Amino acid sequence: MSDLGSLENPLRVAIVGSGPAGFYGAEHLLKRDDVSVEVDMFDRLPTPFGLVRAGVAPDHPKIKSVIRVYEKTAARGGFRFFGNVEIGRDLTVAELEQRYNAVVYAYGTATDRRLGIPGEDLPGSHAATEFVNWYNAHPDFADHRFDLSARRAVVIGNGNVAADVARMLALPRAELDVTDTADHAIEALAESAIAEIVILGRRGPAQAAFTNPEVRELGELTDADIIIDPAELELDPASREYIDSEDCDPTHRRNVEIFTDFSERQPEDKPKRVVMRFCCSPVEIRGEGKVESIVIGHNELYRDDSGQIRARDTGEREEIECGLVLRSIGYRGIGLEGIPFDPRRGLIPNEAGRVNDPERGEQVPGHYAVGWIKRGPSGVIGTNKKDAQETVATIFADLESGAIGKREPVEPPIEVVLAARGGDHITYLDWQAIDRAEVSAGEPQGRPRIKFCRIDEMVDAARSADAVAS
Ligand SMILES: Cc1cc2nc3c(=O)[nH]c(=O)nc-3n(C[C@H](O)[C@H](O)[C@H](O)COP(=O)(O)OP(=O)(O)OC[C@H]3O[C@@H](n4cnc5c(N)ncnc54)[C@H](O)[C@@H]3O)c2cc1C
Ligand SMILES: NC(=O)c1ccc[n+]([C@@H]2O[C@H](COP(=O)([O-])OP(=O)(O)OC[C@H]3O[C@@H](n4cnc5c(N)ncnc54)[C@H](OP(=O)(O)O)[C@@H]3O)[C@@H](O)[C@H]2O)c1
Repeated sequence: MSDLGSLENPLRVAIVGSGPAGFYGAEHLLKRDDVSVEVDMFDRLPTPFGLVRAGVAPDHPKIKSVIRVYEKTAARGGFRFFGNVEIGRDLTVAELEQRYNAVVYAYGTATDRRLGIPGEDLPGSHAATEFVNWYNAHPDFADHRFDLSARRAVVIGNGNVAADVARMLALPRAELDVTDTADHAIEALAESAIAEIVILGRRGPAQAAFTNPEVRELGELTDADIIIDPAELELDPASREYIDSEDCDPTHRRNVEIFTDFSERQPEDKPKRVVMRFCCSPVEIRGEGKVESIVIGHNELYRDDSGQIRARDTGEREEIECGLVLRSIGYRGIGLEGIPFDPRRGLIPNEAGRVNDPERGEQVPGHYAVGWIKRGPSGVIGTNKKDAQETVATIFADLESGAIGKREPVEPPIEVVLAARGGDHITYLDWQAIDRAEVSAGEPQGRPRIKFCRIDEMVDAARSADAVAS
C-alpha cells in the first residue's frame, strides 16, 4: 500500500457529517494536487450543511451564502455525498473502518447542556436547541409544539444562540414572512402572545459571550424596545479592572458600551420588550403541570485563583412569572459506538484531530475528528476552516509516516452495502433536486426557499426529479 494516494490507489476518506467542518475537511483533502483523494461524506439528514441550514437564524440569510463555497467542494472530482445515512444506525463505525483508509468525525454536537435545577423538565421549559431546530425545519422537530400563549418568556444564557432565539421571539410576522423559517413556526410565532423576552446572564455585562453585531441587533428590533436597568450595568471592581485593562477583549469592551447605550434609551412603546438582566442564575422553574415562573438567584462576581471572573450566589432570590423558558447555555456532543468519547467534555478525545483512546492511552490511527465534536460547541462557521486544516494536516502526516493505509479495503463497497439494506440514500444530485424544489416553492412568495420539514417529503422531491429525468 506504499503507493496510497496515487491515481491508481487513492486515499479513501469517509467524513461523518456535512456541516462546515465536514465540508472544509473535504476541501482541504481534495484540493491537494500531489495526493489523489476520494471523499465519501455521510449525513443523517437528506440535506447537507449542518447548522448552516439548521442553526443559523433565518433572518440572517447572508451568512448562509457560505454554502456557495461548499458547493464548489461538492463539485470536485472524487467527492460523493450519502445523505439520509446515519452512522451508528444505517452503517457502523467498523463498516466504515473496513472500507476507508481514514474516517473523519465531523458530526457536531447535536444535544444541549442542562441546568440541573428543579422544574427543568416541566412543559414550557426547553433547550434552545429544540426551538432553533423547530424554527429551522429540522425534520426531527417537525411535530414539536411550543406554547407561546404566555406574555413573558425567559431566555437563559448570554451567547449568540440566546440572542438568536430572543430575536426570533420578537420578530413581527412581516419580517418572518420573507425568510426560510419553517411554515409551522411562522404561524405559531405570528400568533404568539409573548410580549416580553427576558435574557438572563449569570455573569456581568463585561463577561457576556455575545458578539457586537448580535447585541446591536437586539436594539434595532422593529417591534421591541430594549430595556436594561442602568443599575445592572454598574461594574464590580474585578470587571471594571478588566474593562479598563489592555488585556480586555475589544468585543467585551464594545458590548459594555452598547449595553450602556441601551440603558440610556427611552422606550418607544413598541408592542414588545427585550429585557436584559445580568448576574442572575436560574435556581428553580415552578408551575403546576407547566412553567408558570422561574426563581432566580442574584450573583456577585469575584476573581478565582486562576484569575477568572466567576459568579457566586448571594442567596438573594427573585421570582419572575413566565410561561416559556429557553435554556441557551451551550450545545453538547454525543458518543458514537466504536470510537472513544469523553462524556465529561462531550467530545471525541483527540490530539490535533487524531482520535485518542484515553483508556488505552493510545492514539487511534485512521480515525480523526474535526469541528464542534473535536473541540466543543464554540466558534463561528469560519473557525472550522482552520480547524479542518489542522485535522487534514494530521491525516497527511499519518499517510506519509505509514500510520494509515496498512489495510486493503474490504468488499462490497459502501453503496452496495447501503443498497442491500434498502435505505433511501440521497446523492448530491438528489440534494440539488430537493434544493430546486424548495427554492422554486419560495419564489412566488419572495422567500429564499420553503423548507421541507419531513424526510419523506425530501426523498419524494429527489425521486420525482429522478423520474422526470429518466
Ligand atoms: C443556533 C446556531 C446558530 C449559529 N449561527 C451562526 C452564525 O450566524 N454565524 C456563524 O458564523 N456561526 C454560527 N453558528 C456556529 C456554526 O454553526 C458552527 O461553528 C458550525 O456549524 C459547526 O460545524 P460542524 O460541522 O462541527 O457541526 P454541524 O454544523 O452541527 O454539522 C454536523 C453534521 O453532522 C450530521 N450528523 C450528526 N450525527 C450524525 C451521524 N451519526 N451520522 C451522520 N451524520 C451525522 C448532522 O446532521 C450535521 O449535518 C451557529 C451555531 C448555532 C448552534
Ligand atoms: N451570529 C453568529 O455569529 C452566531 C450565532 C449563534 C451562534 N454562534 C456561535 O456558536 C457558538 C455557540 O453559541 P452559544 O450561544 O450556544 O454558546 P456560548 O457562546 O458558549 O454561550 C453560552 C452562554 O451560556 C452561559 N451559561 C453556561 N452555563 C450556564 C449555566 N449553568 N447557567 C447560566 N448560564 C450558563 C454562558 O455563561 P458563562 O460565560 O458565564 O459561562 C454563556 O453566556 C458560539 O461560538 C457562538 O458565537 C454564532
